[in-house]
Amino acid sequence: MNKKPTFYVTTPIYYPSGKLHIGHAYTTIAADAIARFKRFCGYDVRFLTGTDEHGEKIQKKAHEAGMKEIDFLDAQIAEIKKLWEKLEISNDDFIRTTEERHEKAIQKIFTKLYEKGDIYKGSYEGNYCVPCESFWTESQMIDGCKCPDCGRETKIVKEESYFFKLSKYEDRIRDLFETGNFIAPESRKNEMIKNFLDPGLEDLSVTRTSFDWGIKVPFDEKHVIYVWVDALCNYITALGYESDDDTLYKKYWPANVQLVAKEIVRFHTIIWPALLMALDIPVSKQVFGHGWILFADDKMSKSKGNIVYPGQMVDRYGVDALKYFLLREFSFGQDGSYTHRNFINRINSDLANDLGNLVSRTVSMVEKYNDGILVKNDATTEFDESLISLYKEVRVEFERQMNDLMYHEALESIWKFVRRTNKYIDETMPWALAKDEANKDVLNNVLYNLCESIRLIATLFNPLLPATAVEIYEQLGIKGREELYNWESTDEFGLIPDGVKVHKGKVLFPRLDVEEEVKILEELFAEKIVDQEKAIEHKKEITIDDFDKVELRVGKVVKCEKHPKADKLLVSQIKIGSEIRQIVSGIAAWYNPEDMIGKDVVVVCNLKPVKLRGIESQGMILAAGDNGDDLIIPLATGATDGVEVR
Ligand code: ME8
Ligand code: MG
Repeated sequence: MNKKPTFYVTTPIYYPSGKLHIGHAYTTIAADAIARFKRFCGYDVRFLTGTDEHGEKIQKKAHEAGMKEIDFLDAQIAEIKKLWEKLEISNDDFIRTTEERHEKAIQKIFTKLYEKGDIYKGSYEGNYCVPCESFWTESQMIDGCKCPDCGRETKIVKEESYFFKLSKYEDRIRDLFETGNFIAPESRKNEMIKNFLDPGLEDLSVTRTSFDWGIKVPFDEKHVIYVWVDALCNYITALGYESDDDTLYKKYWPANVQLVAKEIVRFHTIIWPALLMALDIPVSKQVFGHGWILFADDKMSKSKGNIVYPGQMVDRYGVDALKYFLLREFSFGQDGSYTHRNFINRINSDLANDLGNLVSRTVSMVEKYNDGILVKNDATTEFDESLISLYKEVRVEFERQMNDLMYHEALESIWKFVRRTNKYIDETMPWALAKDEANKDVLNNVLYNLCESIRLIATLFNPLLPATAVEIYEQLGIKGREELYNWESTDEFGLIPDGVKVHKGKVLFPRLDVEEEVKILEELFAEKIVDQEKAIEHKKEITIDDFDKVELRVGKVVKCEKHPKADKLLVSQIKIGSEIRQIVSGIAAWYNPEDMIGKDVVVVCNLKPVKLRGIESQGMILAAGDNGDDLIIPLATGATDGVEVR
């Protein structure tokens, strides 16, 4: 029996806490491309995506929306599934971590690790970032208190907790890194070794008692399982690991490639393989950590309001325009900046001009010069050989680049051939050949070679731009004849049979007016920023008595200097009535120390003192804005220092 080789590819499971943007879509589109490519090449592919639905952050969001968790989630998940349909994502499964198949398996996994001794009970105190669901050590944090991923303040969480013996797996993880290509690209590996392995792995707190939206520890129900342990295991629970039917697990695990962006490489290359090792099952073959899509040099993120939504892009430009841009514009391993202008320019130059013109010119010429009928003959031109030999080179490069997930290079290879084919038109000048009936055979040969080149172009990009490929087959008159556009068919130049009739179809990618479109896109997404503002995450209501617990007073800055050890911090001496307080604030990027002197600021006086990079801070200066471009310190100019602010 000729069994197909298997190929298992995954995306991260997304937090369903708001609309997904093109950064999220980037991973899924890339995973879809490799899934389709492997299927095309004859693999038995399994492609998984899903949603990560537990944890404090999701619970808070649901409550803020005034909804029960599961109702909130169901609505979010419906939107996410609609988006993947719109983007023609070919996932074979979609796992939700609130599904029974997942929750039950997670409980079994947890129990198994506990019984084995790899999970034990202890107590935990640490700095926790709620939005990122991550603990950080002091040295990892910005200004000693802010999450290095999102820049928001962490909070101190102390609880009884179960721990996973991550430290036990340190050597095996190091070995894993050193042999083969478990982490790709190479640069991510060095980051992980330097930042996490070299300082040494500590055991990981894997349960929480401070909230209850999670999977319960089956033998100690006041604990819920840490959301990352819950989430990471989706890749095996979706295959039926620890269920009554683990056929899929046996067939597809270990994963061939797991796609994630760089901020979660740490979880996927350290915690995840350690969990698998503890379960005595093979680790995935590769975790690929791609770069971020930045917007105005900042990570696209909802909280920053710099966001582009894929659904609206598809509505306006079509699904393949967005896919092409994302896969072609950015080098998959690296960060890249999104701008509306680059998007429009890329669509115009590559899709409307290079590809669109090639197809429409060719089909029109066949219709004009030979009533749309293709003729296969031997009347070759001196340019044929170089056309065909370039195709052969491109075909080989393309396959290698796709297997390496170098999508931008793979598309560039195809486009090298698109441009070469356009050049073939200039070289052979069909309009000149058409002037003389004696050149009829040569003309037919030229037209045939053009159509054949287009067939091969569309077939190479079929896994990446499936909708466009189908439209092209239609125009070439070969739709439905799969033997002319399967993977094997790309091995041969000259497969279209004699007598096929082409049909002029719709313009594949209309040329866009750059200035006009940029304006439209700016407006389209600016509107969304306003929406974002409306959707401010309000904190829980408090009473006047609660507010009264906060002691706000006017203080006059009498001295201010840079923190000796932290660029972002200023250390101010502030006169508040009869006392002088020392306060450390993260304002150095916006205010010079000398400009601070003499200002009447508002101070939170009864905050418990903390040390920030070794210097004690006895309170906090109120400031408006975080992470953004501007930070403003509200002033109480002229008020007497020491008076209360109410
Ligand atoms: O982290 N550029 O979910 P998440 C590129 N639930 N990719 C981006 C991106 C950007 N600007 N923004 C997001 C989680 N992504 C966890 C994962 S897995 C067991 C649990 C993509 O909703 C990228 O793939 O925050 C990133 O890793 C993922 O979205 C994170 O999505
Ligand atoms: Mg994230």
